[in-house]
Amino acid sequence: MTEQSNGALAHHEAPPKRRIRLTVRRAEGPNKPWRWESFDLQVDPGQNIISCLQQVAAHPVTTDGVRTTPVAYDAGCLEEVCGACTMVINGRARQSCSCLVGSVAPNDGDVITLEPMSKVPLYRDLWVDRERLFHSLWPRPGVGSDRQPVRYRRRGRGVA
Ligand code: FES
Repeated sequence: MTEQSNGALAHHEAPPKRRIRLTVRRAEGPNKPWRWESFDLQVDPGQNIISCLQQVAAHPVTTDGVRTTPVAYDAGCLEEVCGACTMVINGRARQSCSCLVGSVAPNDGDVITLEPMSKVPLYRDLWVDRERLFHSLWPRPGVGSDRQPVRYRRRGRGVA
């Protein structure tokens, strides 16, 4: 609310919701067959993709009217730091906590496709095993020491 010149408080209208179709590549687990499932949602343009998945979890019914399970995905910080929520959104790897509907589906009726990252093992749906990424960034002491980050190597030598 803001104060008008006559002292009255004015209510701001919320931006109009728009209809989108969320199409998700789903699999029950590693090496299981996959399928597409679509969900029609009413969303705010400023809403992130994770909140769309939360909407699906609250009402897991496909566009065909079939009741299904909530989509599995991972998330951590919700601040674009940890990378846990990374998935392929409309063909591009992005963090779903910072990817807003308005940026990938600007028009009413647009489709947003969600797929798991393909270079890491799949747990289920959009949820993947990111351990490989962590090992390549920050290996355990004594393992792959030539690939350790500079800061880590220095600390090991007593420099920093
Ligand atoms: S939840 Fe951490 S980057 Fe998205």
